[in-house]
Amino acid sequence: MKVKVQAPDKWMKGWDKLYRKMLETEDLTKLEYLHVHYPIQQLFWFTQQNNGAPEDSEKKAIELACGDGQVACFLAQNGYTVEAIDALPSAVSLTRKRAIQLNQSQSVTTSLGDIDTWELEPSSYDLVVALQCLQYLFERTMPRLQEILTSVKPEGFFVYSGNILPHEPTERPIRFITEEELKDALEGWTIHSIGTNVVRRSAKSTRGYLFAVAQK
Ligand SMILES: C[S@@+](CC[C@H](N)C(=O)[O-])C[C@H]1O[C@@H](n2cnc3c(N)ncnc32)[C@H](O)[C@@H]1O
Repeated sequence: MKVKVQAPDKWMKGWDKLYRKMLETEDLTKLEYLHVHYPIQQLFWFTQQNNGAPEDSEKKAIELACGDGQVACFLAQNGYTVEAIDALPSAVSLTRKRAIQLNQSQSVTTSLGDIDTWELEPSSYDLVVALQCLQYLFERTMPRLQEILTSVKPEGFFVYSGNILPHEPTERPIRFITEEELKDALEGWTIHSIGTNVVRRSAKSTRGYLFAVAQK
């Protein structure tokens, strides 16, 4: 089944190619964290040292646009029950394969779906993760961000990353969420960490990133 999303086909094909290639790798268990996963480390620094959910309580997480499944599986290894959603069958297969190899298949549920229309019950997650994905919802990016924030339980966490400028122009302009916009959306939340960095990926491509970890 194919999920039709707002992101241009060309971009989806690019991610699909990457995940298909990764699916050929036999052993996916060697987790090599990407820099966009950095706020996940920050979440764990905070929750391990402070007032994260007690160890014996069920911690429910959702990862929107799970991609290669690294984050979903890492969360499962650290005690979360995780719903992992992506619009690409290859991403869902890769996440499932990784979860099986890491003995986490009981804790990770994978689904093919659109992160814009996926039903999110209000106040239902201890943790919502949205890394490098909301920007591909274009005019729906900001309204959907609000809906997503509503789905976090009181005292639950929201972990975010997305691009900002500098970024090369794209054929459909990415809806960058600025630091100011993110702070406005998180009004009343405790922001444990927020920041930006710039990565020179090649001679032609320098990209800005915005990261945040916030608690309701
Ligand atoms: C840049 S990748 C990020 C993947 C992962 N979150 C990470 O940080 O490594 C973008 C991902 O968003 C997914 N995606 C884009 N639009 C989507 C949508 N509307 N619904 C579900 N997944 C979507 C793509 O399939 C792809 O896996």
